[in-house]
Amino acid sequence: MPLPTIARIESRRLALRPVNAGDLPDLIAVNGDPEVTQFLPYATWQSPQDGEAWLARMEALGATGTGRQLVVVRRSDSRAIGTLLLFRHDEGSARVELGYALGRAHWRQGIMREAIEAACSHAFEALGIRRIEAEVNPDNVASCTLLTRVGFVLEGALRKRWVAKGAAYDTNVYGCLVDEWLAGRAAG
Ligand SMILES: CC(C)(COP(=O)(O)OP(=O)(O)OC[C@H]1O[C@@H](n2cnc3c(N)ncnc32)[C@H](O)[C@@H]1OP(=O)(O)O)[C@@H](O)C(=O)NCCC(=O)NCCS
Repeated sequence: MPLPTIARIESRRLALRPVNAGDLPDLIAVNGDPEVTQFLPYATWQSPQDGEAWLARMEALGATGTGRQLVVVRRSDSRAIGTLLLFRHDEGSARVELGYALGRAHWRQGIMREAIEAACSHAFEALGIRRIEAEVNPDNVASCTLLTRVGFVLEGALRKRWVAKGAAYDTNVYGCLVDEWLAGRAAG
């Protein structure tokens, strides 16, 4: 069974919903910024065509049933301010990987923490996922801190795991299990 389509997830300030072509003008403000894309596997968007090519890749991923590309929408004005990806879904192990990016104007306001908490709640409680994992370059302090704050556990470091943008880099592996997530929620 493919990873189910996610119609909409709401939190206090945000909504997560599937990306569509109408989001691309907003997303250029996110992915057209080299500070945002520094640790991402794709190049900074230079043109609308880069956004269209990215959307085509995300639609192809969705068609495989192993990934769902969502946008992080600000509920106050319905603008897309970031992206959140669930991918590498493994049905047999009920496992999925998480990726995300937020426009720089919105950093350090608890936005991505709110988005990830909403996405994890949905994945664990509605989709039956039992493990969510994330791979992060250890130099990406913001992302490493964010995951720890949300409740992910640093499980290990893989040396020179990926090559991107001409350089090999180490990768921290973070994991979050459904039981510890539910226990954390119950403890408040
Ligand atoms: C990583 C990223 C999504 C963080 O989003 P954000 O909305 O600014 O994060 P939040 O405000 O929710 O912060 C969550 C926690 O991380 C901490 N944090 C966020 N940015 C930080 C930074 N630059 N340095 C240290 N800590 C940071 C916050 O202080 C907060 O901790 P707290 O709850 O103790 O206050 C954002 O910096 C980003 O989009 N970066 C570029 C894309 C990217 O690298 N994506 C991840 C690829 S693995």
